[in-house]
Amino acid sequence: MTHPAITGPSWRPTIIHAVGARPNFVKMAPVIHALDRTGEFNQLVVHTGQHYDAKLSDDILADLDFPSPDYFLGVGSGQHGEQTAKVLAAFEHILLDVRPDVVLVAGDVNSTLACALAAFKLQIPVAHLEAGLRSGDRSMPEEINRVLTDQMSDVLLTHSPEALDNLIKEGIDEDRVYYVGNTMIDSLRRCEPRARERAAFGDHGLAPGAYVLVTFHRPGNVDDPLRLTQIVQALVELARHAPVVFPVHPRTRVRLAELGDLARLEAAGVRCIEPVGYLDFISLQQSAGAIVTDSGGIQEEASALGIRCHTFRPNTERPVTLTHGTNVMLGDDPAEIARVRPSGWGPVPCAIPLWDGHAADRVSDVLLKAYAVERSVEAAA
Ligand code: UD1
Repeated sequence: MTHPAITGPSWRPTIIHAVGARPNFVKMAPVIHALDRTGEFNQLVVHTGQHYDAKLSDDILADLDFPSPDYFLGVGSGQHGEQTAKVLAAFEHILLDVRPDVVLVAGDVNSTLACALAAFKLQIPVAHLEAGLRSGDRSMPEEINRVLTDQMSDVLLTHSPEALDNLIKEGIDEDRVYYVGNTMIDSLRRCEPRARERAAFGDHGLAPGAYVLVTFHRPGNVDDPLRLTQIVQALVELARHAPVVFPVHPRTRVRLAELGDLARLEAAGVRCIEPVGYLDFISLQQSAGAIVTDSGGIQEEASALGIRCHTFRPNTERPVTLTHGTNVMLGDDPAEIARVRPSGWGPVPCAIPLWDGHAADRVSDVLLKAYAVERSVEAAA
């Protein structure tokens, strides 16, 4: 990707893609590629550094052919307020320097909110990819990030129909909402063949269709020692019935180690592995007999792959995965985790409207119309 001069004889709008954490990269990569194909934008990438481990950042960026960030803010970890504030301050400097025509943010992580806020305060338009998702649960940091980011957004790009209703209820003007579909599925479709070739299950001594893939990282599940111990107990039980592979998020690994539960899981045969790159994780999902997770994105990927996903949360902001996908809610009782079994029925293809691998082209059309065509018409007038 090239970054030509910001001013010049043929004016092009400058867009900053602000990313910070693992799911952002997956959602944003196809948009960057789609805009690059049009040649109509001067694109810059800012990586806040919210995720900095190779396993949570570099490896995933490489798998996605993500361009090297133009700016790396290196904010790292911290309490929510501290992390958000660090991104806000550092990103503001870049905005003052670059003065982009639009900032694109994705999803619901702390970096999303902080970058949107910095731009909003400088009256730089914000476009929000994956707008309008709501769990209704304000104890989740992501829900707060979603609501506030949407309030500050000029263009709201949604991936499922209920998002529009959620936004209208919060007083957002329908004219700013564009139903474009799911760019996370664009990344999935693009990488599926390469992921299939990896056959990552073989690295862990697993047979396709016979194992349960597990992830847990939400503070509500892993930061409370009692709850985490109950989850561990359920996983130990589950491992008596089926092989279990568990790529452990760094946050979760620290908590498990503090409780001595990592050794307990391993003694029970649970394969507690490091987080894996994007291709390997898609590969593990493709061949899983079932998935147990508290992640948002995995509910979507599993649905697109047709693999049964059991979501261990009391609510989901992604109801379309329940009605049109393979997702089922396990609720709030850890004992339910122990009852999950590999389905044995193989992938069931699901067709969720506009989760077709071409969402980024629709995003590109919206951004072109909003920030390239209309502005150049205004400038010419
Ligand atoms: C964040 C997002 C969550 C998303 C998840 C994907 C917020 C509020 N949460 O959660 O929505 O689903 O990313 O993974 O933004 N850590 C490392 N290495 C890293 C990054 C983090 O070891 O590269 C550890 C640190 O101990 C840190 C903890 O993980 O304190 C949590 O990281 P943080 O970025 O705050 O949130 P996640 O739990 O990753």
